[in-house]
Amino acid sequence: MSLLQVNEVTHSYGSRNFFNWKDRPKKILSNISFSINGGTCLGLLGTSGAGKSTLGKVILGLERPQYGQVLFQGHDIYTADKHIRQKLRRDLQAVFQDSYSSVNPRMTAERIIGEPLENYEKLTPAEQKRTVIELLERVGLSEEDLKKFPHQFSGGQLQRINIARAISLKPKLIVLDEAVSSLDMVNQILILELLKELKADFGLSFLFITHDINAAYTISDRLGVLEKGELAELYDEKRQFFTSKHPVVNEMRGSILASHPRFRSVRRA
Ligand SMILES: Nc1ncnc2c1ncn2[C@@H]1O[C@H](COP(=O)(O)OP(=O)(O)OP(=O)(O)O)[C@@H](O)[C@H]1O
Ligand SMILES: [Mg+2]
Repeated sequence: MSLLQVNEVTHSYGSRNFFNWKDRPKKILSNISFSINGGTCLGLLGTSGAGKSTLGKVILGLERPQYGQVLFQGHDIYTADKHIRQKLRRDLQAVFQDSYSSVNPRMTAERIIGEPLENYEKLTPAEQKRTVIELLERVGLSEEDLKKFPHQFSGGQLQRINIARAISLKPKLIVLDEAVSSLDMVNQILILELLKELKADFGLSFLFITHDINAAYTISDRLGVLEKGELAELYDEKRQFFTSKHPVVNEMRGSILASHPRFRSVRRA
């Protein structure tokens, strides 16, 4: 059984314009099916507006699709019993692009990271503090950062805090939506390395949503390409991206191959 199974998901956002009755809801996702196995990362590529974040929200249980199912650990996340859904929520976490708006500016790092633990675990204050320190250290920060507020961290450090929070309950799957996109090159590489380590250490799975092929290629085992709400391509081997004849993939490749030495040899191959 796959950890995550997305079956024929189709979704439109309802028309918000009450006066223009001719407006039809626009189809944002069309018949999307794929799965993610435990301990693996699926990179989901696509141009702006392709529907990547919408698919992420559907998988996170935030946007119920009109058709289709999302099965997580074998349970439909929208129709399972309440107590099962609660367990599924704990095993399914998210990290988004904007590290600053993902956190409450009035909370310390200790509270931000400790919040999920407070909600789900019954730890003593001392145990909770120790766990938060371990999490800070796990993501490359330290005990000294406990009492700091979001504005006292850099974007990269704050994304580490978001990651610490996301792993605090030892989830099975993390949806990362453009999680490194607003970081500079050096921080992107460092955070991708951290994510790879966490994946190996905890057997974590990722859905890594991005428009950036370099980032997706670095971290993913498999790659999918979403185009105008359809899953245009899905490669079990990420290298297949470089031999695909799909016009959209061709365009994506064109934009990176010339500039990126790592991929030049692939074009010649
Ligand atoms: N809440 C919403 N209500 C109505 N339309 C929406 C809503 N959210 C997104 N859309 C529309 O759905 C389409 C897909 O948006 P989505 O955010 O999923 O794309 P994306 O692939 O994540 O793009 P980007 O790379 O820019 O983040 C867009 O046309 C967008 O305008
Ligand atoms: Mg998006």
